[in-house]
Amino acid sequence: MDIKERRKALEQLNREIRTTEHCPLCPYRTSAVPGEGPIDARLFMIGEAPGAEEDKIGRPFVGRAGMFLDKALAEAGLDREKIFITNAVKCRPPQNRKPKTDELLACRPFLDRQLELVQPEWICTLGAVATGLFLKESLTKIHGKLYPVDHNGRKYQLFPTYHPAAVFRVPVLGEEIRKDFKQLRERMVKSAPHSGKGPPQ
Ligand code: URA
Repeated sequence: MDIKERRKALEQLNREIRTTEHCPLCPYRTSAVPGEGPIDARLFMIGEAPGAEEDKIGRPFVGRAGMFLDKALAEAGLDREKIFITNAVKCRPPQNRKPKTDELLACRPFLDRQLELVQPEWICTLGAVATGLFLKESLTKIHGKLYPVDHNGRKYQLFPTYHPAAVFRVPVLGEEIRKDFKQLRERMVKSAPHSGKGPPQ
C-alpha cells in the first residue's frame, strides 16, 4: 500500500472505530476516540483509555493528563503534531476505571490495524495498561529503556514510561516522565540523525 492508500485506510478505520458496537464499553461512550497523528509518524504513543474530556470531544489526551503530556513532550523537544497518539481502548470506561481484559481484547484489533497502517519504528507506551499489551514486567523496572519487540511480524522499538495522569497521584513521577521523554528523543535522534524528515520524531 502506498502512503495515500494507507491514509485512506486509516480514515476508514477511524469511521469504523467511531461507529462500532462490538466492545462492552461502547454503550457508555459519548464519542469513541480513535486517536490522531500523521500516517507516517515515526513515533506511536499508546495511553490507557479516553477520559471525560476525550469522551466529549473525540480526541486523545485533551484533558488534564493531556496538558501535562503536551508540556513534557515539548520540554523534551518532541513535537506532538508528529506523533500518532491513541489508547489501548477507544471508548471511556465508566468512572474512568481501568479497562478490563475483555475490553482490551475487543479493542486490540483496532490498535493492531493502526500499527500496521502507520508503520512506526518507535512505540512509547504510557502506563502499565498500555505497556502490558507488549511486556509483562513491572513498569518501575522497565520504564525509560528500549525493548525491541516483534509484533504481528513487524519490528518495533518499544519504550515504556509512566502514564501522565500518575503525576497527579505521585508528583515525583513527573520528573521520571520528563527524563524518559528526553532519553527517548536522544535515542530517536541517534537512530536517524539525517533522516531528512525534519526534527526527529
Ligand atoms: N488518559 C489516557 O490514557 N488517554 C487519554 O486519551 C486521556 C487520558
